[in-house]
Amino acid sequence: MATVDSTTPVAQRPPQMSANPVRRVADDLAAEWRGRGSYPPGPTNFSIARTRQIAHDPLPLLLGAYEEYGQIFGMRLLHTKVVFMLGPEANHFVTVGHPENFHWRESSFGDLIPLLGDGLLTIDDGYHDRARAIMLPAFHREQVEASTAAMRAEAEVAIAALRPNTVVDVYAWMRKLAMRIAMRALLGLDPDDAGKGAVAAERFEQALGFFGIDYALRLVRGPGSPWRRLLAARAVLDRIVYAEIARRRAAPDDGRRDILSLLVEARGERGERFTDSEIRDQVMTLMFAGHDTSTSTVTFALYELAHHPDALARLCEEQDRVLGGEAPTIGQLEKEMPYLEMVVDEVLRLYPPAWIGPRRAVRDFEFGGCRVPRGAYVNYVSWASHRIPEVFPEPEAFVPERFTRERKAALPRGAYVPFGGGGKRVCIGKRFGQIEVKLVTTMLLQRLRADALPGRTMTVRQMPTLSPRGGLPMRLRARA
Ligand code: HEM
Repeated sequence: MATVDSTTPVAQRPPQMSANPVRRVADDLAAEWRGRGSYPPGPTNFSIARTRQIAHDPLPLLLGAYEEYGQIFGMRLLHTKVVFMLGPEANHFVTVGHPENFHWRESSFGDLIPLLGDGLLTIDDGYHDRARAIMLPAFHREQVEASTAAMRAEAEVAIAALRPNTVVDVYAWMRKLAMRIAMRALLGLDPDDAGKGAVAAERFEQALGFFGIDYALRLVRGPGSPWRRLLAARAVLDRIVYAEIARRRAAPDDGRRDILSLLVEARGERGERFTDSEIRDQVMTLMFAGHDTSTSTVTFALYELAHHPDALARLCEEQDRVLGGEAPTIGQLEKEMPYLEMVVDEVLRLYPPAWIGPRRAVRDFEFGGCRVPRGAYVNYVSWASHRIPEVFPEPEAFVPERFTRERKAALPRGAYVPFGGGGKRVCIGKRFGQIEVKLVTTMLLQRLRADALPGRTMTVRQMPTLSPRGGLPMRLRARA
């Protein structure tokens, strides 16, 4: 594959991680042996039931351990001890106070590297910071505004295709829409182009499927295995993305505003620029981080609004008053619709799609009176932290009023972390994601109502991000 040499490289790439599961297990056991005697308290016997529960329904387990052991505890999952840190202070410690203690790359989510490569999520230290500095301008206000043209156009078409008095899986619907938006805004591809955009979307979904299957199946490597399918999907995606990069290198065009084009042109402070493979890894990471998250947020918002008619009525009153039936502008979404903001905040409290902040300790550290050894897997967990009753009373209840401006400002630092805790790893696409969620939810509710199906309960699936298990069928009706 062709790479363009930069005169000044961004920095030395981090060492590659082994994708061999046997090697990974052996490394984990060695790290635990080195750190023996200095793990925080918690259940450390081998337990298949516990491992299954963390994979299928982790909240009761994590909140129970928080009650028993406090804001830091360990537990054995599969073969290895894993440390969890919950609550405002813990979130702040990991993300803002002492991020230097942790790496993302060697975390339990290292499995993503074969698909994502060395994008922002999976790199650390100086290489991460320099790459992030080069990328930040692509997420400035005016660039995000340029992306909203694609969001609006795609949302209009997708909403027009919805028919009242039908049952629609709103999760599947939004996922397709978010993928089309990502294709256009991130990759600059036409999602209807059968040769490129449509294939890239299909293969990306196929690749993501790998991370939703059971852990044991992910370890199988033979022909026909999910792993091989992941590699095959990645090969097709790579061909498409590298061809797009080459096209932009060959004929630069200032008019292009998609993120891929901006990254091809981007320069760091010392004139350094990304190579082709660095751009490929960054856009693949943006696709991964950016489309599932907005999908889930819109879906969970529709679910909660269907169950809370008062909140829905208040939201629609605000919508009518501010927009008068017109499509919203970014300024209106961001500044003139405070109740919409409160609804989205509360949805992200209850269902933060990127629910776990996976890390690996790269040095020994102490927190909350406990020592943690270098090499330990450490996770902060927004999903559980957002349901601690001392911080969020009646945590299971959907109450947007918790997020009035005053009450939000009065929360302890680190209490509310749906986009990460702040610091240098906070979500780079926060604004992009917030606008996408607000825009689609608003435009949909201007036309339709989505009602819950009687007798159908929703359960949440958490890998790789939170989503309604089996989708979310809802009955649509025209807005009265
Ligand atoms: C509702 C939408 C979104 C939510 C809730 C969300 C949440 C998060 C969270 C919690 C993190 C930090 C994870 C950690 O500390 O380990 C994160 C990081 C990240 N997000 Fe988002 N995200 C959203 C949308 C997006 C979008 C639209 C993009 C890109 C277009 C994006 C790109 C990224 C990237 C690249 C990172 C890694 C940043 C770094 O480490 O420097 N996200 N996101």
